[in-house]
Amino acid sequence: MFQSFDPPPSTPAWQAHAIDQCWQGFTADDHAVWDTLYARQEALLRGRVVSPFFEGLDQLDLGAGGVPELERLNARLLPLTGWRCVAVPGLVPDEAFFAMLAERVFPVGDFIRRRDQLDYLEEPDCFHDIFGHVPLLAHGGVAAAMQRAGELGLEAIAAGRGEWIARLYWHTIEFGLARQAGEPRILGAGLASSFGEARQSLEDPAIERRRFDLTQATAEPYRHDAMQPFYFVADSLDAVIATIMAAQVPGR
Ligand SMILES: [Fe+2]
Repeated sequence: MFQSFDPPPSTPAWQAHAIDQCWQGFTADDHAVWDTLYARQEALLRGRVVSPFFEGLDQLDLGAGGVPELERLNARLLPLTGWRCVAVPGLVPDEAFFAMLAERVFPVGDFIRRRDQLDYLEEPDCFHDIFGHVPLLAHGGVAAAMQRAGELGLEAIAAGRGEWIARLYWHTIEFGLARQAGEPRILGAGLASSFGEARQSLEDPAIERRRFDLTQATAEPYRHDAMQPFYFVADSLDAVIATIMAAQVPGR
């Protein structure tokens, strides 16, 4: 009765996960939640995040008020680095996720947390995805490294080494720190978008901070359901970009 539908070869498989952002569907309270999160996080990150993050916030006008409309955001982002955002209904399968990155497409959740979830949300919402990740996509070096991470992800999954790329991504792009003028600063989006963990990652004396090393980071499992017990600190933003650009999926 029903035939399976195979998209034409010109359509990337990841497009099956892309949806309309339905920006008009965000309520006044949704926009107010964004503004609350944005204001306190922008103040908290001053002096705590790698400098290109704030340059990206300004270039992309992410503080204009309310949940950003992806069409307007893409009109600014695309000319800068060739990256664009697409809406997705939540986490997408790893293979589709990395296929998106390999094409300079960043998936953004089509929802924002409720007011009673301001401090912690396990599943990434559009505040995490946009505020946490997108400012650095306006930086040429990060833009290239994120695309390379996508390519590495596809290669790693094909080689049965999905955990290798998941750990590299987690310990750098999500929860990594990087030195700037010698001092650790936030690099990862999971930290940049978290009120509690942004401060903890840099200032809690009980937290271990290890020098980032590709071999060690990709051997280190992580938890996605709690604050991190330790962080990897790269020597600089440029150093972590160079490491990702040069990384090769190890043989089995
Ligand atoms: Fe993320």
